[in-house]
Amino acid sequence: MSNSLPSINPTKTKAWEQLNTHYNNIKNKQVAELFKQDSQRADTLKIEWKDFYIDYSKNRIDATTVKLLVQLAKEVGLDQAINSFFNADTINVTENRAVQHIALRNNHKVIIKGKDLSKDIQEVKDQIKSFSEEVINGNYKGYTGKTITDIVNIGIGGSDLGPYMITEALAYYKNHLNLHYISNVDGDHVHQTLKKLNPETTLFIVVSKSFSTQETLSNALTIREWFLNSSSDCNKDAISKHFVAVSSNIQKVVDFGISPQNIFPIWDWVGGRFSLWSAVGLSIVLGIGFTHFEELLEGAMEMDTHFKETNFEKNIPVLLGLLSIWYGNFFGCDTEAVIPYCQYLHRLPAYLQQGIMESNGKSTDRNGNKIDYQTGTIIWGEPGTNAQHAFFQLIHQGTRLIPSEFIGFKESLYQDSSHHNKLMANFFAQTEALMKGKNLEEVTQELQSKGLDLEAIKKIAPYKIFEGNKPTTSILINKLTPKNLGALVAMYEHRIFVQGIVWNIYSFDQWGVELGKQLAGNILAEIDTDLSNAHDASTNALLKKFLNS
Ligand code: F6P
Repeated sequence: MSNSLPSINPTKTKAWEQLNTHYNNIKNKQVAELFKQDSQRADTLKIEWKDFYIDYSKNRIDATTVKLLVQLAKEVGLDQAINSFFNADTINVTENRAVQHIALRNNHKVIIKGKDLSKDIQEVKDQIKSFSEEVINGNYKGYTGKTITDIVNIGIGGSDLGPYMITEALAYYKNHLNLHYISNVDGDHVHQTLKKLNPETTLFIVVSKSFSTQETLSNALTIREWFLNSSSDCNKDAISKHFVAVSSNIQKVVDFGISPQNIFPIWDWVGGRFSLWSAVGLSIVLGIGFTHFEELLEGAMEMDTHFKETNFEKNIPVLLGLLSIWYGNFFGCDTEAVIPYCQYLHRLPAYLQQGIMESNGKSTDRNGNKIDYQTGTIIWGEPGTNAQHAFFQLIHQGTRLIPSEFIGFKESLYQDSSHHNKLMANFFAQTEALMKGKNLEEVTQELQSKGLDLEAIKKIAPYKIFEGNKPTTSILINKLTPKNLGALVAMYEHRIFVQGIVWNIYSFDQWGVELGKQLAGNILAEIDTDLSNAHDASTNALLKKFLNS
């Protein structure tokens, strides 16, 4: 396996050793105190870039932390890795592929293994544009001559999460077409969705890069059968009006019965979880139009340029990625929360879970050795303010340290300032409260002012103390536009890359999902034949119970 990426164990670097010492110096410092000592802190520990204002000053860091983290990035060869990435080298080494989702949003020449890909990319973009325009303006007709009203995206993982997250996030910009996403192999998911649909006015997009994913193929087959059974006029010609596919496996799509002119190709150099910028985003284009999709790409491209060209000290994906390492590897934090103060972004945490955990949940380093330090980030979250009424208790007063990222917008889309001010007041109040906490003295004073006597205060006060010093990063963006969303998503993609490079792992494969797939295939064969005693005692008993019911 040839490797153009550096392979350096981060824990053996000088910076890591210094960070360990530094951690011991800083771990008990209160961020609120650091603010008192340094009047410039909020200004120093922030990045302003286009419509983004990133405030990372409420983190348990100081200037030395930043300096050492940047030194770590340099020692592990992040510069070289970024160059390899942007040069389209084969950095997905274990699958022998380049990683070029960035090429889908950049207008420059892309050469992979000697082939210029810009023409292919442009051709597919043109195909998406003309097809989506016809469907949106109603010229495209179903097999009975009716216009299309509903679009169903059939896919899973990267072939679902990205398009679904984006169309939800950009619902404000949506046209008249109704979008549906079917992902789970749970038949109830597909049948529940089909109940609402008219086959004559529905377009199905089967999205599967490999075209061999069990869930997607099962759902597509069920839907095709439902479609063919819906009327005696429904035949193969009708299928060609209602089924299109996005895939890199053209032969398998054709074998499935979708005609070649209905295929939107993707390529092996686009990873599933980074594919929303490709034809995988067809449902996005159908939902919001090609112009908005292009704005999404443009925002991502601007973030790519920022990532490629900005010094690490002011580089958003680099700094935020390094902060994650600081908490995971030095503070020993188990998880991180992402809290968008924006209901439109309600699928962002689920989308990031695949992006972050499928990419960096690895335990073999780039030299093939078993890793003896933590990698990967467990990521979770929900929109604020709902999150405040669900799990914030644990962030405020639980025993675990959970770095949290707050994302909010200066302007609301419907311009309802009364609501928006309340929403954002909560955002700011929470980050302040998490940092400051409330000490015994403050609790006592508060209770005294409510008229409690000292005996009662003594009993209740321990429960009302907030330790504070809980780290937060605030990402404040002017407005939720396609362009800003593109930049935000690209920022997360590049953070994944940064962290993977520092951890010395391969971020772009996903061998870990294969075992479960294989075993499920074996067990399904047993369920189908009512035969099941080849497993451990627990699995055998579960299967027996299931088959007897
Ligand atoms: O879960 C594993 C995975 O390979 C993801 O990486 C991918 O996004 C998903 O399955 C779907 O794959 P496909 O697009 O090939 O159906």
